[in-house]
Amino acid sequence: MLKMAYSVRANIPLRCKWAGTTRCFLTSERLPTALQRTNFQRSSCSDCIGLRLVSNKGRKITDMSVLQEISSNVRNMKQLENSVLARRTTQIKEELRQGVRKSYKEVIDVSWGDPHKAGVKPLSFVRQVLAACLYPQLMDGDKLMVDVRQRAQRLLRACTGGSVGSYSATAGIPEIVQRVSEFIMRRDGGVPSHPENIYICPGSQWALTNILTVLVNPEASPRIGVLTPVPCHSTTVLSLTALGAVVVPYYLREESGWALEVEELQRALDSAKGVCNPLALYVINPGNPAGYVQSRKSVQEVIRFAAEKRLFLLADEVYQECVYREKTEFVSYKRALAEMGLPLSDRVELASFHTASKSLMGECGLRGGYVELVNLDPAVMKHVNSLFSTNACAPVLGQIALDVMMNPPQPGDPSYHLYMKETQHIRTSVAENVKRVDEVINSLPGFSCQLVEGGAFAFPRLFLPPKATKRAEEAGMQPDTFYCLRLLEEAGVLLSPGTDYGQKEGTYHIR
Ligand SMILES: Cc1ncc(COP(=O)(O)O)c(C=O)c1O
Repeated sequence: MLKMAYSVRANIPLRCKWAGTTRCFLTSERLPTALQRTNFQRSSCSDCIGLRLVSNKGRKITDMSVLQEISSNVRNMKQLENSVLARRTTQIKEELRQGVRKSYKEVIDVSWGDPHKAGVKPLSFVRQVLAACLYPQLMDGDKLMVDVRQRAQRLLRACTGGSVGSYSATAGIPEIVQRVSEFIMRRDGGVPSHPENIYICPGSQWALTNILTVLVNPEASPRIGVLTPVPCHSTTVLSLTALGAVVVPYYLREESGWALEVEELQRALDSAKGVCNPLALYVINPGNPAGYVQSRKSVQEVIRFAAEKRLFLLADEVYQECVYREKTEFVSYKRALAEMGLPLSDRVELASFHTASKSLMGECGLRGGYVELVNLDPAVMKHVNSLFSTNACAPVLGQIALDVMMNPPQPGDPSYHLYMKETQHIRTSVAENVKRVDEVINSLPGFSCQLVEGGAFAFPRLFLPPKATKRAEEAGMQPDTFYCLRLLEEAGVLLSPGTDYGQKEGTYHIR
């Protein structure tokens, strides 16, 4: 493990001799005087936030953390097993670069839900509009289609000072918020959507964390609980832990295509008795890591349960465009709630999340997402507003990506043909991959995979022989991490282990 040596002098920013960077989070007031002229070493391992103080001769003087006051909630955040694999991937890439012979020439990394990283090409219309907004001179002449120029001009008129370099309103550029609201209404068959309930954010995860910040009072006793699916998108669990919420797991039934069952929600709620005060129910539909899509009936059941138990519904619907089976359709929680009518439709509190990171666009790096809030008490909305104001605004380019996502080229528009060709290509490739997953993975010995109905991932189960689990144990690893590491070493394919998403005890998966 690399060690970084720092010189410590009173009130002088510290220079890392290893990285050559200056860091000033440590000042002499925080160190015993005797140590001020010593060197200390800090493990460069990102797992370790503590500093191990050693004398110049390397003798350990004391264990202390410079960040002693770090929130215990943050300290409790689980280190993802994926980080071990990511570190090894970096080393393997370097080995390949140096000419070390392996049975593969490059590492294929499909461990992240990042379409562009996995090779999906950005959509031309999106990038042309973004380019024109960033550098309006591109609109001189006729290199860009007229609808690209018109869209860019309209968006620039909506930007303060006519530039994407300006801050926008906190909740997003009002014209774009309006178009998000119109998109939601079209999606939901005319169910009203109000722009004042929509916040555009630097990604949907940011929005979710902010809503959780409103819901989870860290001083509450008992602590606040959030019912959370197992398996679950890993960063949500990290956010919950960081905020001091109790994660109350409910298990999706794998044998039934990862079904979300109300009896299981009830069991989870009962399990929270005496442990925490469950306030919210988090659902991911379509699923990640498991590729299920909830039926309308299932969504309605969950809503009824939330209403009965007075739970705030957090609906993570970022994969809503990713539905692959003919008879499967995405029904938003908002739509289902509205269709259920009174008294539920104006009682259940709901936050629904969507993003430009997923779907056909896959613009993860632009950081454009939104949350729509339904049935929130206006007094609470006031606080939500304050909280969202702590960030000046979402990146304007991310907002523009959202605008294009909500309003793609229409028939008759000059860019329509190319847009359709590119999106159709993505749809066809994904559909083929889904089919291949069904056929190939289920034909492999030691694997089983539920049908992928939606989302971006398959979450196959591994049936590992006792010998393999024993080897993993000896290596101090979870069996599925061990499997992923072997796959990485031997085939150059990087996946993520099921451990990072949660799984039933004794079962192992990969994503
Ligand atoms: C279920 C789910 N929600 C949220 C996100 C985060 O999306 P964003 O990039 O909008 O923060 C992801 C990313 O993979 C996800 O899978």
